[in-house]
Amino acid sequence: MTEPVFTPRVFSGIQPSGNLTLGNYLGALKRFANSQNAGVESIFCMVDLHAITVWQEPGKLRRATRELAAGFIASGIDPQKSILFNQSQVPEHTQLAWVFNCVARMGWMKRMTQFKDKAGKNAEQASLGLFGYPALMAADILVYHATHVPVGEDQKQHLELTRDIAIKFNNDYGVDFFPITEPVIEGAATRVMSLRDGTKKMSKSDPSDMSRINLTDDSDTIAKKIRKAKTDPEPLPLDATGLENRPEARNLVNIYAALSDQSVDQVMRDAGGKSFSEFKPMLADLAVDKLSPISTEMGRLMQDVCEIDRILAEGAERARAIATPILQKTYEIAGMVGARV
Ligand code: AMP
Ligand code: TRP
Repeated sequence: MTEPVFTPRVFSGIQPSGNLTLGNYLGALKRFANSQNAGVESIFCMVDLHAITVWQEPGKLRRATRELAAGFIASGIDPQKSILFNQSQVPEHTQLAWVFNCVARMGWMKRMTQFKDKAGKNAEQASLGLFGYPALMAADILVYHATHVPVGEDQKQHLELTRDIAIKFNNDYGVDFFPITEPVIEGAATRVMSLRDGTKKMSKSDPSDMSRINLTDDSDTIAKKIRKAKTDPEPLPLDATGLENRPEARNLVNIYAALSDQSVDQVMRDAGGKSFSEFKPMLADLAVDKLSPISTEMGRLMQDVCEIDRILAEGAERARAIATPILQKTYEIAGMVGARV
């Protein structure tokens, strides 16, 4: 069988489950804008159906979805160039997810570390949706035949599962229908760490607000959080190798590199040997400079939620135009009578 050639297409998603953090910005949003600007067809999704795998208060979910849309746009996603929408408006995601529930194996799902982390000790009480989460994620991607998925480091295992599902579907049915998606995990900030503990990921769900920078933080708050960020007492080393066993120092340097579009080596050339009392104000100025226009723009966009809703509805329509024929073809391959191909 000849290998089908899939046109390059980027897909990625973010859960509307509260505050957007600097980790989301550097690990995801900023890189999404780069892929859009490089001219690759790009589809970005607010995965509201993933968010409800853990309890979400409806009013908060609605607000978080609109705020996330504002965050995408303020970070440079142009809803004319890219397709921007929320997952629940495109039912083909959940329809394909059912097929994938029947392709994926229990054993594969049980190995997912995100499920283990989120379910904690009480896995019996976790929702069935949380367990099946990665099959819906595979459907998000494959319902568009997406070839590239930019994400942070924490999503690597889910993307391997997406590839396993595509391979098993193709093998089971003897087709070359789904592409084997490439994860795109690159740059200095694929894993931004907590400002309070350099061994923990910066997360919107961390109980301490001081552990993260939120995209909605004002300049004073950003500067204060960086000033108070945990560090060790030594000055910065002279080059990047000296950062190896210093997680907090390494994290701040990585953040600086990602925000300023430089490599870690370039940053170390300027900042190597500086004390934190010199380096932290440099970082704070840079962070305020890059992030405050985003939070201002998010605030402006949030004043007109009707416009945000209009953008999402239009994005959903464009997304469906791609997803519908792929789902119908999947149904036909699987032997469903009445598939419209
Ligand atoms: P989530 O907020 O969990 O839906 O994540 C959305 C995107 O942001 C995914 O691509 C994550 O990998 C990325 N992301 C979340 N937290 C971080 C972090 N601390 N560092 C880098 N990327 C992150
Ligand atoms: N699981 C991802 C996260 O928590 C969000 C997500 C859902 C996603 N579907 C996706 C990311 C498809 C990339 C592609 O961050």
